[in-house]
Amino acid sequence: MENALTGQIAIVTGASSGIGAGVAKALAAAGATVVVNHPVPATRDAAESVLAEIRSAGGSGTTCLCDVSKEPEVQKMFADVIAQYGTVDILINNAGLQRDAPFQDMTLEQWNYVLGVNLTGQFLCAREAIREFLRRGVVPSRSKAAGKIICMSSVHEVIPWAGHANYAASKGGIMLMMKSIAQEFAPKKIRINSIAPGAIKTPINHSAWDTPAAEAKLLELIPYGRVGVVEDIGKAAVWLASDDSDYVVGTTLFVDGGMTLYPGFSTNG
Ligand code: BGC
Repeated sequence: MENALTGQIAIVTGASSGIGAGVAKALAAAGATVVVNHPVPATRDAAESVLAEIRSAGGSGTTCLCDVSKEPEVQKMFADVIAQYGTVDILINNAGLQRDAPFQDMTLEQWNYVLGVNLTGQFLCAREAIREFLRRGVVPSRSKAAGKIICMSSVHEVIPWAGHANYAASKGGIMLMMKSIAQEFAPKKIRINSIAPGAIKTPINHSAWDTPAAEAKLLELIPYGRVGVVEDIGKAAVWLASDDSDYVVGTTLFVDGGMTLYPGFSTNG
């Protein structure tokens, strides 16, 4: 799928690290011009180094500072990208974070922060993308679709997660937001889907795999016997963004090594 996205413009939110960085590089390798979004001035260097890697591999793009939970910043990001490149074809709604706490101790700030970035951020970015897709419509030389949105969800859109109620609620919310807008805009040839990663080696879950003991414990949850890497998600994102998945609408693609297969039941129940 080397040229699957040639000539298309992709915004990847939260692309200065982790899954977002991996997806940005994969889309660029597939020919897309990639906007490497990052949230705060302190993440600029990390975003620039993702862009530098993209360029040294022969790809193209730019970086863009924008906190996805802030409406004026999201509107400015889309306006700037459209002014620079003419349109947007692909939104990877990826920015997300965790602020874990036992439920009885969870502060309203922790709750609002996670919901604000993970769910409201996806709403704000999807809305701007859809406005542009509706304006432009289908241009057959670009893609069969008028636009594609990929929401980065998680296995925790279906697996409850004690100690992470804010995060799991945000991912459950993403699931039905994604399906609702997929239903609403399919007639306009806008394709909206989610990817639900399992445990992928990134900074967000560093403590779950950074020692052999931690990794062995994590592997009890993964029937396929390895922790995922960002390239696993990058390949899925390229496919979901390309016309190869043109008939895939409103679905969640689990990329999780079998984490959602109730592995505890393989020796019990
Ligand atoms: C979380 C990770 C976790 C994984 C599997 C992801 O959505 O961000 O911290 O390792 O789900 O539980």
